[in-house]
Amino acid sequence: MKLIYGTAWKKERTAELVELALRTGFRGIDTACQPKHYNEPGVGLGISNSGIDRSELFLQTKYTSVNGQDPLSIPYDPSAPLEIQITKSLETSLKNLRTDYLDSLVMHSPMDTFEETLEGWKVMEGFVKDGRVKQLGISNCYDFEYFRKLFNEVEQKPAVLQNRFYSDSGYDVELREFCLGNGVSYQGFWTLSANPDILESEVVVRLAEKYSVSAAVVFYRCLSERGVVSLCGTTCEGHMIEDLGLMGFGIEADEVGLVFGLCK
Ligand SMILES: NC(=O)c1ccc[n+]([C@@H]2O[C@H](COP(=O)([O-])OP(=O)(O)OC[C@H]3O[C@@H](n4cnc5c(N)ncnc54)[C@H](OP(=O)(O)O)[C@@H]3O)[C@@H](O)[C@H]2O)c1
Repeated sequence: MKLIYGTAWKKERTAELVELALRTGFRGIDTACQPKHYNEPGVGLGISNSGIDRSELFLQTKYTSVNGQDPLSIPYDPSAPLEIQITKSLETSLKNLRTDYLDSLVMHSPMDTFEETLEGWKVMEGFVKDGRVKQLGISNCYDFEYFRKLFNEVEQKPAVLQNRFYSDSGYDVELREFCLGNGVSYQGFWTLSANPDILESEVVVRLAEKYSVSAAVVFYRCLSERGVVSLCGTTCEGHMIEDLGLMGFGIEADEVGLVFGLCK
């Protein structure tokens, strides 16, 4: 999967946009059990309205800790033990998404301490064991040593690392290399919104002209060539169609190299 449809900040348009994304050809959906930023029930409605069979979809959601929630809309009892919080979050997601399993469950960010992250991870591993979740991941984890330690210590290895793809993190060079070498899918978010300079660069503009595609598509394609799965948050049908055509042209390895030369 090269692109995943991102559902953040779509509010009351969520169902309509998820349905549109699926009808346009997206098969991966990213959401979160975090009402502050995601309308997860709307995602479930959009999937249902699309009529697409569950088996064709990759559904990913997130457990968001109390720190990442709006105190007025926490989808579990914040005073309950961590295991109960995470279990309630999973049950809510399954209900919202109208499914009995998730393809991917992501811890939205590391917990306050490494021990707490491990504790939460063990709870999530239980969902893999009982079949409600196929794989686990973590997001907003920019510390290479932290991620490697987590990877080494847990039984059910992270299958996904979802991070903001931007210059402040040095574009996660070390983490991405580790992911490539260890079967972890690196998912980038804010790939467009955080990188206007790259999209407007002479290199990307020239390649967009050469291949008669948009700058966004050139960038998505280059990312995909280096193993980055992009989360695409567009609200526009034209952009969906255009973006899904990212594999529809041949790009030279040295051109990908030139674009990655800008990612530093
Ligand atoms: N794990 C986390 O903490 C975290 C944090 C943030 C986001 N995310 C995930 O990442 C997803 C994507 O985030 P995002 O929407 O902020 O970032 P994005 O996909 O990089 O940016 C989307 C913005 O770019 C514009 N755009 C212009 N041309 C486009 C094109 N060809 N294709 C797509 N977009 C184009 C869109 O406008 P139009 O609507 O007009 O196309 C929209 O304003 C979120 O929905 C969420 O699932 C995760």
